[in-house]
Amino acid sequence: MCGIFGVVARDERLLGELLVEAGRRLAYRGYDSVGCATVADDGTVDLRKDVGRVDDVNERLRLAELRGRRGMVQLRWATFGAPSHENAQPHLDSDGDLVGAHNGNIVNNVQLREAFLAEGMTVRGTNDGESCVHAVERYVDRGHPMEEAVRLATRDLEGDYAFVIGSIDDDTLYAVKQGSGLAAGLGDDATYISSDLPSLLPLTQRVVRLEDGEMVILRWDRVEIRRIEDGVPVERAPETVEWDVEAAQKGGHAHFMLKEIHEQPRRARDLLHYLEASTEVAGFLEEIRTARRLYLVGCGTSYHACLLGAASLNRLAGIPAVAALAPQFRETLAHTLSPRDVVVWVSQSGETKDVLSALKGARGTGARMLGVLNVIGSSLMHACDRYLPLVCGYETSVPATKTFLNQALLFMWLADRLRHGGTPIRWEGFPELIEETLRTTSAGVDTIADLLAPLAESYTLGYGLTLGIALEGALKLKEVTYIHCEGMLSSEFKHGPLSAVHEGYPVLFVCAPGDAPMVVSHVSEVTCRGGVAVAVAAPDALLAANVHHLIQLPQAEPEVTALLAVLPLQLASYQLSVRLGIDPDFPRNLSKTLTVD
Ligand code: M6R
Repeated sequence: MCGIFGVVARDERLLGELLVEAGRRLAYRGYDSVGCATVADDGTVDLRKDVGRVDDVNERLRLAELRGRRGMVQLRWATFGAPSHENAQPHLDSDGDLVGAHNGNIVNNVQLREAFLAEGMTVRGTNDGESCVHAVERYVDRGHPMEEAVRLATRDLEGDYAFVIGSIDDDTLYAVKQGSGLAAGLGDDATYISSDLPSLLPLTQRVVRLEDGEMVILRWDRVEIRRIEDGVPVERAPETVEWDVEAAQKGGHAHFMLKEIHEQPRRARDLLHYLEASTEVAGFLEEIRTARRLYLVGCGTSYHACLLGAASLNRLAGIPAVAALAPQFRETLAHTLSPRDVVVWVSQSGETKDVLSALKGARGTGARMLGVLNVIGSSLMHACDRYLPLVCGYETSVPATKTFLNQALLFMWLADRLRHGGTPIRWEGFPELIEETLRTTSAGVDTIADLLAPLAESYTLGYGLTLGIALEGALKLKEVTYIHCEGMLSSEFKHGPLSAVHEGYPVLFVCAPGDAPMVVSHVSEVTCRGGVAVAVAAPDALLAANVHHLIQLPQAEPEVTALLAVLPLQLASYQLSVRLGIDPDFPRNLSKTLTVD
């Protein structure tokens, strides 16, 4: 959440277009406001910022026309301070000699602002990014050279964050990493810094990843890393990272969300190949098999995949795995961990603060920490004892789709490998089943969209294996359509929420093979009160006779069917979002990577 990007070029030039492009690449991290600042050789700072998305603000303020030798852009996801012009970043210090922007949370922001005001500084807004700039100003005013002032400032800033700052008095940018992601890039005639490594790759593939407690000094031809604590230089050779050009384009689709939904057959195939071939898998399986207690932990969509993973491990392998939401895990089950326990942390980005904080808290217990993640090189990857990648490529759209499928698939595959008896799942045909489902459920997708379009609310209900799918389907719907949709266990519906049902009220049921006899009762509780029941399930005569609409999935094993059921729900969310005039790639108020508690 929040994206920062900075550049130091060899000579003064038009930097605006480069900053706007970088802003577009970072837009998924926050789009409450955007701002760009450049510093010219004569020390002039040109700062343009406002509420809105990159292209709107660019059109209004002509960001692309900014000139300078150094520049930065910030995309904001508001936490401290309402989205406003004053709170938009970058920020100036009192005299306009320093300009900087941050990503993350400064939790002592309120106290700092009071102190800065008492010290006579000009504080213009309430955003915590401004506090980073004034914290540096404080030490510059006391006579410290810039590098030292930046290091000293971090002692006053509490929280997890990264920031970039420049002064009119030199030709450098300084950046700090304290808990939020930061990577530097080395180009031919410029250096770059970004909160998000992939955003650097169209400019250069030579990158240096920063670690917590480090600062970096950027000059046009080199980057120097120092330990924040004592300023001691850190030697780290740049690495070359491949750039997936295809991932940066929509490939003929109107939105990244649709492109990523249709990528799922290929991404699932890639993951299955990886799981069959990788030498990492055996060790991972062994840790899960021998765990005294096993927890699968994540947030949002990743948590829903944990629910499917735990259910599969329970049912197929007899392993009493438990799924948990990361912050709640930290406050409860983490207190019970001991060395023979295993926690699998699941995160697409590998940067979700709720996950990283829970992991950090659990570290001292001696339990093993495993990861399932999509972004190689992420903080989670470094924090885990071992990990498995999701092999999904870059996921651009804010709503997670292909990474959910591969997260759940990965756990189901592991559970299948550890199964006690029964016939192993035929995974080799799974990518084709995804293709078939995407193709054959389009009429059903229209039905869901038609039913939900005029409404402000609905429910998606699952049972057993499909609970995670129901929660995920409901999350996708509310995320990209703003229609309130609650996901829950279908047997729980009668314990209260049933009172919402009236004539024509739609309820979606997701049903795995074998569950129909139970689910049909839950369906009847809705239909006998005038509700409209839509089921997403494999062909089933009992279910077909009891619901108004059956969206048919291909016949397959229960785990496979459950997984396929998410596809029409993803497609319906997408379709409805577009119908309602919403951009599904950037739903309001959200950010792809949530790096605050
Ligand atoms: O990167 P993570 O998987 O850790 O992100 C966790 C959630 O923020 C994320 O899954 C979120 O719920 C999805 N973007 C929703 O589509």
